[in-house]
Amino acid sequence: MRKRSEEVPLPLSKEDKNLLDEMLLYLKRSQDEEYAKKHGIRAGVGLAAIQVGVLKRMFVVYIKNGEEEIAYQFVNPKIIESSVKLCALEGGEGCLSVDGSHPGLSHRAYKIKLKAYEALTDEDVVLEARGYLSIVLQHEYDHLNGMFFYDRIDKDHPNDPKPSEELI
Ligand code: NI
Repeated sequence: MRKRSEEVPLPLSKEDKNLLDEMLLYLKRSQDEEYAKKHGIRAGVGLAAIQVGVLKRMFVVYIKNGEEEIAYQFVNPKIIESSVKLCALEGGEGCLSVDGSHPGLSHRAYKIKLKAYEALTDEDVVLEARGYLSIVLQHEYDHLNGMFFYDRIDKDHPNDPKPSEELI
């Protein structure tokens, strides 16, 4: 999990596309309470390939908010802009690959621009995200570089927001 994932050759191979589909399905199911309970899995909103043992620069996101659904399959993502303004999840972040608790604020850019190949739409995209979505994307992006959310917690002052940081 500490390794750096490798660039993915494009056009995407069938094998890689299948993996992305399986990862997205896993996330969807993880948010189905009954399914998750039955299979003893935790709900997640993002999953990187390295979390299923594949060292490739790919991650999926699935966020359901009432009727609104956001689903992405990102390949070779790159964060090309990060705001100076910071944000953090007030209750701290969690990760499907991290057991035990790591309380504290993971400081992140409030707004980012992410450039990637997006496999659901088969398009090169530049996505601007802020707040919660921005946090999710940065969390998954970190996995591709061998980083965990707790690496971004200040060990001496885990619960102190940075100046003008927005808590979400
Ligand atoms: Ni994670």
